[in-house]
This record gives sequence, C-alpha cells and structure tokens, in this order.
Amino acid sequence: MARFTLPRDIYHGKGALESLKTLKGKKAIICVGGGSMKRFGFLDRAKQYLEEAGMEVALFEGIESDPSVETVMKGAQVMQEFGPDWIVAIGGGSPIDAAKAMWIKYEYPDCTFEDMCKVFGLPELRKKAHFCAVSSTSGTATEVTAFSIITDYEKGTKYPIADFEITPDVAIVDPELAETMPPKLVAHTGMDAITHAIEAYVSTANCEYTDALAIHAIEMIQGTLVKSFNGDMAARHSMHDAQCLAGMAFSNALLGIVHSMAHKTGAVFADLGAHIIHGAANAMYLPKVIAFNAKDETAKKRYGVIADYMHLGGANDDEKVKLLIAELRKMNDDLKIPQCISKYGKDSLPADQGFVPEDVFLERLPGIAERAIGDACTGSNPRQPSQEEMEKLLKCCYYDTEVDF
Ligand SMILES: NC(=O)c1ccc[n+]([C@@H]2O[C@H](COP(=O)([O-])OP(=O)(O)OC[C@H]3O[C@@H](n4cnc5c(N)ncnc54)[C@H](O)[C@@H]3O)[C@@H](O)[C@H]2O)c1
Ligand SMILES: [Zn+2]
Repeated sequence: MARFTLPRDIYHGKGALESLKTLKGKKAIICVGGGSMKRFGFLDRAKQYLEEAGMEVALFEGIESDPSVETVMKGAQVMQEFGPDWIVAIGGGSPIDAAKAMWIKYEYPDCTFEDMCKVFGLPELRKKAHFCAVSSTSGTATEVTAFSIITDYEKGTKYPIADFEITPDVAIVDPELAETMPPKLVAHTGMDAITHAIEAYVSTANCEYTDALAIHAIEMIQGTLVKSFNGDMAARHSMHDAQCLAGMAFSNALLGIVHSMAHKTGAVFADLGAHIIHGAANAMYLPKVIAFNAKDETAKKRYGVIADYMHLGGANDDEKVKLLIAELRKMNDDLKIPQCISKYGKDSLPADQGFVPEDVFLERLPGIAERAIGDACTGSNPRQPSQEEMEKLLKCCYYDTEVDF
C-alpha cells in the first residue's frame, strides 16, 4: 500500500492570491521573509484579503533565507501569544518552511527540534491551526509538500522535517508573485525544481501517480526555465505551475542523494563567508549523481525515459543517459550556474577560483559524506552509496571530474 497526500485545495493561476478571502477563521498570522513580499505589495494585499474574510491579522516578519532553529522557536512563541487558527506563510521556501516548523512547536510547545526531525514521526496537527502556503519562488514547491528544511547553524547542517502532517491545507500558486524574481533566483529555484522531478522519477518510492506528475514537470521545465530566466513572463508563469507539479511528485515519491549532498554542503562552508545555495548545489550535483545512479539498471532505464520525453535522441539507454547529462549541464551554462564547487564563487556565479579552498573541502569531506549518507533523502535513492563512494562522488562534484564507479 502507498499513500498519496496533497493539500485539500490548490488555487492556481493569475489572481489566485485573492482566494485568501475564502479562508474561514478568527485569527491569522502571516509569516514572511526579509522584505520582497512587502516591497512588491503582496503582503499588504494578503493582509487585506484576510481582513475581508473577517480575521484579525498578525505579522511575523523577517524570516531569513535558510531559516534557523532559533527563528522557528521565536515564531512559535509569537504564535503562542497571538493564538491564530490560520497560519499563512508567504514567500519562498525559507519563510514557508520556517512557518511549518513553527506550526509544530505552536501545537506542541514541549516538542524539541530533535523530536521534529524524527522522519514521519510527528503528532497530529490541526488542533489549534490550519496552514496556508503562498509560494513566491518557482522551485521548492513547499506549498504542497510534506517537508520543511531547517538549518542548525551550530552544527552547520540542514535537517529535513518530513511528515504528511505538515502538508499544507491550502496552497496558493499565483504566478504574479513569481514575476518579480531576479534572474539568479529563477535559475536556482528552477534547477531545484527539475532536480525534484528527476529524483522523484527514479526514486525507489515512485509510483504511477507520482510518475505522471514528475515526467510532465520535467517536460515543462525543459521548455520554459531558460526562457523564464531570460525574462519571458509566459514561461515564468508555466514554471510556477511546473515546480508545483514536481513538488506533488516528490512529496509522495521522495528524493535522492542529490538532495542529501545539497543539504550537507549548503551551510558547511558558511564560516568562509557564503552558502552554496540549495538550487545551485542541486544543479551542480545532479549530472554527477545521474552518472552514479545509472549503474543501476532500473534507474538507467528511467533516465532513458526522461531523455525520450525531453526529445534528446540516443540509440540506447547508455547514450540517452549521456545526452541527459549534457542537456542538464547546458542548462547550467545557460543559467550561469557553475558546474562544480571549485568554480562556485561567493556570489554563486562561476569563478576561476571558488570560495571553498581545496584543503578545507578535503578536510571536511569525510564528515560531509557521512552526514549525506545519513540524510533522510538517501533511503529512496536508487543506489545506496558506501562512505568511500560518497566521498568519491563529492570529489567529482568539487573538481568536475567524470563519475566512473
Ligand atoms: N520544503 C521543501 O520541500 C523544500 C524543498 C527544496 C528546498 N527547500 C528549502 O527552501 C529554501 C530555499 O527556498 P527558495 O529557493 O524558495 O528561496 P528563499 O525563500 O530562501 O528566498 C531567497 C531570496 O529570494 C527573495 N524572494 C523570494 N520571492 C521573491 C520574489 N517573488 N521576488 C523577488 N525576490 C523574492 C527572498 O526575499 C530571499 O531574499 C532552502 O532552505 C531549501 O533548503 C525546501
Ligand atoms: Zn530541493
């Protein structure tokens, strides 16, 4: 038996934000990030729609990118004091993920961060509040997923919280919010979305329900991401839907080791002055992981199907895998994303000398590899890497060398 869980309602298309007016309750708290939603007027509009629905509205502002455990605890405290029956999170993956974790702590004040991280081990939510997510980036699809990613900065690592309990009740996918994204954000979040779809399609937990969503998302992203990056707003709108379809797939089919590696490398070099942004990490690691996973016959066939849907040609699965890798690397080039960590500049653009020095990378490699193997996303990867293989794979991601093992 398998379970397939999505939000009860998904409002999509231009103007979908207005559906906030249909929420029924007394008090709503809006959780947002650093200012983009306020700057572009979406926060005011959301507040106004909720007030029109007859609710008293409070704001929790300033949720940082890659949100911390501390922010989660602070937000939960504000929720305790205000007592909302709706939590409305607006923005990119960061504020929505943070709000999901705040929701758990609000419902269960004694729940520690460690308790939250027990995979599919959360107690029943919705005793105090329901959750509505409005996405403003086209990538994480956290508005429809059972995941929240929180960073423990003391340990320098990201922890996924995973449970269908935190799948939102209502998702709003309004492409107008995505129009204001700068190109770099389009690039990163878009490559995150195609990674979700590809990892879900080859995941050992895939099924017919998730396959349909994943493969269609891949086709849509291939056709629209680079155009969206170059300012085509019709393509930008399609991407907003495509990333959501990819999210519906991976929330139910789970992911793989591209994400395990991205989670464990994202913040581990933060002391050197930069993050490896989630989407960019995925974009760099995905071609390497495809080469690694393709040693598994079932995965290889599935990558072949993906290549067919992308109309890449190829006479057999080996050729198709190579063409798929080449296509993804070309997308990285078109989107100005580096191909490997050694060329990843502080500003996330390709640089001759990346911000992670070789000696630091090699020194931290065994720990990163160990934590990546232990990540919640590793279990559903088609091939289970040993410590030695994970270290080799990460080295290929650092130097951009070929994966031949
Ligand atoms: N929950 C999941 O299923 C899931 C999946 C993948 C990634 N994640 C996590 O999500 C986080 C990344 O989220 P993200 O990529 O959406 O970025 P983000 O939420 O961190 O936002 C990045 C920046 O973009 C700005 N921004 C957001 N929307 C904008 C818009 N429409 N116009 C202009 N600026 C805008 C924000 O203010 C912020 O400065 C990471 O922590 C990652 O680990 C979660
Ligand atoms: Zn992701």
